[in-house]
Amino acid sequence: MNQKGGCGKTTIAVNLAAVLKKGGLNTIVLDADPQLSASRWAKQGGEAFPLVVHPLDMTKGARKVKTDIRELAETADMIVIDCPPELREPAMLASLLADVVLVPVTPSPLDIWAAEAATDLAHDARELNGNNKPIVILLPSKTNTHTVIAKDLSQTLATMEGQVAPVSIVQRVVLAECVIAGSTIDRYAPSSPALREMEALGQFLLQFK
Ligand SMILES: Nc1ncnc2c1ncn2[C@@H]1O[C@H](COP(=O)(O)OP(=O)(O)O)[C@@H](O)[C@H]1O
Ligand SMILES: [Mg+2]
Repeated sequence: MNQKGGCGKTTIAVNLAAVLKKGGLNTIVLDADPQLSASRWAKQGGEAFPLVVHPLDMTKGARKVKTDIRELAETADMIVIDCPPELREPAMLASLLADVVLVPVTPSPLDIWAAEAATDLAHDARELNGNNKPIVILLPSKTNTHTVIAKDLSQTLATMEGQVAPVSIVQRVVLAECVIAGSTIDRYAPSSPALREMEALGQFLLQFK
């Protein structure tokens, strides 16, 4: 979740779900973005797409959304919700229902400020829930290992409220290519550093299950 568009939410949601599924957890993706990017990605892959991606209309009211998610949760070990940009209400609802909120942050000051709004919102949800959930994790996204600003990102994020993931999702062309191919990174580039990074993220998140 991050109300900033283009920070990598859909790329991470779908590929993360794919690696969790490959690791043996029945994982589904809920596409809460009215633009339906994750659903279109799955459609691109057709029958061969390795994941179920369900559209989820977050505007139809909290109780209905909660019932829908509970029903789906019965058939799955893990649910990854790909949140829409800009809309505050779906982000709040998803945060209230989630165990973990992952906030991808790209290495630019403007995006770091935007991520602050996202982590604030997730912490509001945590306060409302009153049970230390969701856990809020900042995830460096689309980083470029050669730039100073990307190297400093984790340090900058460490000063913000929330944990920083011990892994970054580096800017890598295969992550854009696998969408065009209608595939996920585990299948598209099985020996790529991009897959290793996504797997490390999945491994890190399993501790919160
Ligand atoms: N780590 C990455 N490396 C390369 N391209 C990326 C990466 N993450 C996202 N992209 C590309 O950036 C664009 C925005 O990513 P997307 O996942 O749609 O962001 P969001 O869902 O936050 O709007 C897409 O074109 C996507 O292919
Ligand atoms: Mg998206």
